[in-house]
Amino acid sequence: MNYLENKLQEQTPTLQEQEKLKNIVSAIASDIDAICKTEGIDATPLEVGSVSKGTNLKSSDIDLFITFSRSYPVEYIEKKGLEIGHAVLENAIEKYAEHPYVSGSVSGIKIDIVPAFRINEGERIVSSVDRTPLHTIYVKSRTDSKMVHDIRLLKVFLKEINVYGSEVAKSGFSGYICEIAIIAFGTFEKFIQYMANLKGKLIVPENCDKEFNEPVIIIDPVDPTRNAGAAVSVENLSKLKLAAKLYVTRREDILFNPEPVIKYDRKTIMKAFVLKKPDIIDDIIYPQAVRLKNRIWDIFQKSGFMPFSSELYMGENIEILIEYMRNKLPDAQKHMGPPAESNESIKFIDAWKGNSRLMRGPYIIGDRIYVDTKPRYTELEEIIKIELEKSDIGKNLNQYKGEIKVVSGKDVDKLNVAKKFYSKYLF
Ligand code: CTP
Ligand code: MG
Repeated sequence: MNYLENKLQEQTPTLQEQEKLKNIVSAIASDIDAICKTEGIDATPLEVGSVSKGTNLKSSDIDLFITFSRSYPVEYIEKKGLEIGHAVLENAIEKYAEHPYVSGSVSGIKIDIVPAFRINEGERIVSSVDRTPLHTIYVKSRTDSKMVHDIRLLKVFLKEINVYGSEVAKSGFSGYICEIAIIAFGTFEKFIQYMANLKGKLIVPENCDKEFNEPVIIIDPVDPTRNAGAAVSVENLSKLKLAAKLYVTRREDILFNPEPVIKYDRKTIMKAFVLKKPDIIDDIIYPQAVRLKNRIWDIFQKSGFMPFSSELYMGENIEILIEYMRNKLPDAQKHMGPPAESNESIKFIDAWKGNSRLMRGPYIIGDRIYVDTKPRYTELEEIIKIELEKSDIGKNLNQYKGEIKVVSGKDVDKLNVAKKFYSKYLF
């Protein structure tokens, strides 16, 4: 058996495991039903997600919805949804997507209980989760057992190359996209063959005329206004294209055997910036961590320290690594002024006249005026501190700006972000 089929067998739930999932679902569903009946709430439990479609892997969660009548206001279903969720799921925690829901586990299986409105096909949705039950109907009516097998195989393949999951920090392919792809292309082999030769965006259906900006455009069959592939980053699309090429040319040696070259002594300079990750869900914190990384990169760049690579790691801490070329700034820096022909040019000359930081000029190169100046600050850590103080790095991170720890020299190598940086390899 080949490598992938082997992995698939490892990750496909056994009959007993499927039975166990079914029992968990029906026990909780009947608890939800009972509460709704007693309290006279017009709502019903509904199993959705991959378990309901038989496309789940061992690692999949149970997605159980409470679908409320559309006559209730959103606030009511949010409040009741949490209340019922807590009543039927011990030790559950509250999470927040577009709306709050509860998440917990039963006998080691992760389970989400999500309130939504009961929607019929064609009816206008209130929030994006309202589509989810329609996904189940769509997928179940268009798949046979061979396709279900191929959907699972595709999920396993995407997991192997690290691009499965639509959460923000992953920006990969969701389970639902795998289902749409197999339904559209017929088989795993056909889809991978297509990906191996694809240039540019992935667009499904191919002849779609909808305008979306994202690199992956997969029209949601139950709602043509939605791009179900919006979360996929161009990097992850590239990974899938390359992996597909390796797969069709039978280069398992590269595809499934990562062999990163790890050489620590690069004779470059590195610094890392570390802060504790606030207790807020990753989908919200991750974009802010990216913004912080970009901001620090910009500060290195603008002040002349010449950064050339960076890495971000998010675990218990947020760790940002910058590799750069220059440790000390020289006393003279080139500073570009306005075009000589513009009215700003005289203001620029006046502004630098008699300034003690002026080292040379003003002079003209090409169509612009320049001066060489002594930088205001020359110590990197001081510059970073001052510049970050002025920057907006996001609602939840701003308050921790003062607590960023700077790590230098050999200590950088001990961090998780360094491990990630050095072992970088294709997938
Ligand atoms: N969903 C979606 N788009 C996403 C995430 C979720 O449309 N980016 C919908 C799909 O209908 C999906 C359901 O929400 O089936 C449940 O989401 P999730 O558990 O993330 O995906 P599954 O399809 O259940 O896949 P997995 O096996 O990974 O649990
Ligand atoms: Mg799921």
